[in-house]
Amino acid sequence: MPIKYHELDCVINGEYSIKCRRDGNEVFIPFFGFIQKYFEIYGKLSTEDGYERLEWEHSYSTVHRPREKYSPAGVFMSFEYYNVEERDRVRCISAMEGVPLSTQWTQNGHYYPIQISQFGLSHLSKYLTQPEAEVVTLEDGEDELESWILPDKRSQIELRKDPDLSTTLVEFTTSDSLKNPGISLPVDEKEDFVLSADIKFATDGSITVTIDTPGLQLFYIHYVLSSRLIFLDGHDIYYGLGDRRGQWMHITRDIAIDFDKGLALKYNKSKRTKMKLKVSRIKVVIVRGHGWLDNLTLSTTAHLDHFYNAANWLVLHQNDRGGWPISVQRKLIPKVLELEPGWYSAMAQGQAMSLLVRAYLRSHNTKYIQAAVDAMKLFEIPSMQGGVLAKYADRYDWYEEYPTTPSSFVLNGFIYSLFGLYDLKEVTSGEESKMAERLYNKGIESLKHMLLMFDNGSGTFYDLRHITLGIAPNRARWDYHTTHINQLLQLSVMDDSEIFKVTAQRWMDYMKGKRAKHN
Ligand SMILES: *[C@@H]1O[C@H](CO)[C@@H](O)[C@H](O)[C@H]1NC(C)=O
Ligand SMILES: *[C@@H]1O[C@H](CO)[C@@H](O)[C@H](O)[C@H]1NC(C)=O
Repeated sequence: MPIKYHELDCVINGEYSIKCRRDGNEVFIPFFGFIQKYFEIYGKLSTEDGYERLEWEHSYSTVHRPREKYSPAGVFMSFEYYNVEERDRVRCISAMEGVPLSTQWTQNGHYYPIQISQFGLSHLSKYLTQPEAEVVTLEDGEDELESWILPDKRSQIELRKDPDLSTTLVEFTTSDSLKNPGISLPVDEKEDFVLSADIKFATDGSITVTIDTPGLQLFYIHYVLSSRLIFLDGHDIYYGLGDRRGQWMHITRDIAIDFDKGLALKYNKSKRTKMKLKVSRIKVVIVRGHGWLDNLTLSTTAHLDHFYNAANWLVLHQNDRGGWPISVQRKLIPKVLELEPGWYSAMAQGQAMSLLVRAYLRSHNTKYIQAAVDAMKLFEIPSMQGGVLAKYADRYDWYEEYPTTPSSFVLNGFIYSLFGLYDLKEVTSGEESKMAERLYNKGIESLKHMLLMFDNGSGTFYDLRHITLGIAPNRARWDYHTTHINQLLQLSVMDDSEIFKVTAQRWMDYMKGKRAKHN
């Protein structure tokens, strides 16, 4: 058939024109060159059964239906799909603290309590939903030590009974120099890349993991007794364990992540992929210095270790106001809505509560629940006085993710803070439970009154800056819009008020391009 289209100009709002095609009475407008950007929709070419087609999506993210019953001990929302440590804005997992260091808002990096809580909640949620990890024990001090290779005659490795721990340990003695080949254990593991160990050094010392890549280039990750976070030098990556000589350390390292973050200091993501820089095999584990070792394992995952690392970080770093001050400046709107370092976030407080409640319910260790209870204090202190409480129209209490003055009323952070209060009120009793319940009820009442202020008829607003500052609204991009929906679906499991269900459904329809009726 001869091509019958002819080219014509489409004039857009009288402002500029683009080239289109005409076929009889129909006009065809370029999808990739125009429609996609103009209407903020998404498309890609694909092939199915040998036929090419265009797949058109109004939005790019997916809604996760919550479980039918909610439990403060259980999976947190759909966080089993989160991979916090893989995010670009995670510099690395600190070997000193076992938690992520964020580069959001500052290149130097800072410990961001929200990211740390999300890291812990995602690992617990994965633990509860994924198949059990495979664990390969490399050394537990129970058998002969013949697999270990000594570098020279002066080096030693032997089994020792430890009276305090009532267990057998492996004592190793060799030079602590990184130039020393060290006492090494051939491993050759191709699947399970999470290393765990209990280790104590009497002298300076280190653990090294030798890594192979698909391109057969060898790399070395050294965990050393230094307080330097992370450092790359050629094929050597260093992580500081802190100055912890003479102390037992339980370390858990995802070697694939540690490798990737080390190389990220030099190569961006596409370069790392192109150069095939990923772990294909762990070849050898090496110890140096004088110390004791036990429970050396490689496993598919070690979610509970990561979960407790996050919970322990929160307990250790909570201050006497019950808060986790955020150490970077935050500019919500430069020069207008800014927070100076040391601000608190209701979202951080709330997500920490959700994590701490879960740590308490698993371990029965009361330090976790105490920290969660203390975290409530800031909810009663107005933003102006360094707390997180805002009021809308002098009437509705709102817990601020960013406690700016004037208030910003960020929706998703507020709802996360309510989840924390909900978890806390469910597991506490007496005065503590009353306080959590009061704060939760006030918040939920505000939410029911204010929720629809975030609805624009075809999408949602991220915050209420258009109302408090009289400026253009801040539309939620699709992933935040989806977060709003996921949160409402979760709320409708906790609270049977119709507004959450009905609104969630309408907001899901917006993701397919449906709009509220116009007059
Ligand atoms: C190794 O693990 C066992 C079992 O969990 C534990 O009893 C022992 O204390 C651990 N060793 C060290 C040195 O922590
Ligand atoms: C509402 O938000 C959506 C999604 O951000 C946007 O596409 C739409 O233009 C907005 N509508 C109005 C009336 O502001």
